[in-house]
Amino acid sequence: MEKLRVGVIGAGRIAAGSHLPCLAKFPDVEVVLCEVDEARLKLVADRFGIIETRAEYRDMLARDRPDAVFVLTPPAVTYGVARDALAAGVPTIMEKPPGMATAETRDLLATARAAGTTGMVAVNRWFQPMLNQARRMVEANDRIAVIVAEFYHYSLSLYRSLGSSEKTLARIITPGAIHTIDLVRYLGGDVTSVHAYADQYFDEHADSFTALIRFEGGATALLNYNLTSPVRIEKVSFHGRQASAFLVGLAESCVVHQGDMTFDLRNVQRHDPSSPEWSDKPYNAFINGWWHQARFFVDCVKEGREPAFPASNLEDAVKTMELIDLIGGQFNGLVPARA
Ligand SMILES: NC(=O)c1ccc[n+]([C@@H]2O[C@H](COP(=O)([O-])OP(=O)(O)OC[C@H]3O[C@@H](n4cnc5c(N)ncnc54)[C@H](O)[C@@H]3O)[C@@H](O)[C@H]2O)c1
Repeated sequence: MEKLRVGVIGAGRIAAGSHLPCLAKFPDVEVVLCEVDEARLKLVADRFGIIETRAEYRDMLARDRPDAVFVLTPPAVTYGVARDALAAGVPTIMEKPPGMATAETRDLLATARAAGTTGMVAVNRWFQPMLNQARRMVEANDRIAVIVAEFYHYSLSLYRSLGSSEKTLARIITPGAIHTIDLVRYLGGDVTSVHAYADQYFDEHADSFTALIRFEGGATALLNYNLTSPVRIEKVSFHGRQASAFLVGLAESCVVHQGDMTFDLRNVQRHDPSSPEWSDKPYNAFINGWWHQARFFVDCVKEGREPAFPASNLEDAVKTMELIDLIGGQFNGLVPARA
């Protein structure tokens, strides 16, 4: 079998904890690992049995000519690296956020189009098996009508004490809330109106973002991205006709009520026929959607397909970034039609 040559740029926590455990097990993939930190490069390459390693991603793009690239670098670095990969015509999946500003995400989309290639953003919630099973169950009765999404992301003072700069804290909604904002779009569809507050309750920067969002299909979402809390908890519930799903974690607990029946979906992944070897650990790469996400992207590349729903491609990522801007900017009213 001819293997797909996949360049992985960045060998940090998310690479070693979530992406590489999947890629290293795909029989049709060979990884070239690229990392600026030499010690980390060796450590992670050894852990996953990766033979080909590089220190400079531009060399890797030019010399190894990868079939696909995973950009798993820090948020402020991702845009430049992903842009270079896309400009080289390589299908690219990148960690969120796809640029720290909407203009950067638009530029990534334009770059991909100009080079005749495709980009996808790794908002892994979209591939989470429990979430998708819960969605199917709620939608089996009728459409989703109401979504409530909450993300308690510790407090800004904690991030400050851990060394985050004031510039980072002032823009934390972009890398921080993107999953939650993206998730309500995934469940609700395209947005028609937003009523948002960005409040500074206990900090000089906004530490609570609350929004009421209306979608084209008529659904409504209530969202709070909260930075005043001592805990990190992600919660979402969605509700249809005689059906409600409640997820905490998002993989710690997932309960669906359908009529007078109640289902606990925590073990739904065990019954998935595409399941790789099993782990009882609650946070493995499979349960959280990483496996499905990586497989989907690799298959799109192999088949020459544009990553589309349920993947978030760059066109879709621009919509999420625009919604982040509206919420961060306390927008209030009908969302202007897109150009
Ligand atoms: N999807 C999720 O749930 C999720 C969770 C955590 C982090 N993330 C995202 O993943 C990304 C990485 O986060 P992390 O926690 O792994 O960070 P990290 O700092 O642990 O790892 C990033 C790695 O990239 C390397 N790097 C930086 N510039 C590079 C370059 N030019 N070439 C090669 N390597 C380079 C760094 O040396 C570091 O090892 C971030 O964008 C973050 O937003 C996503």
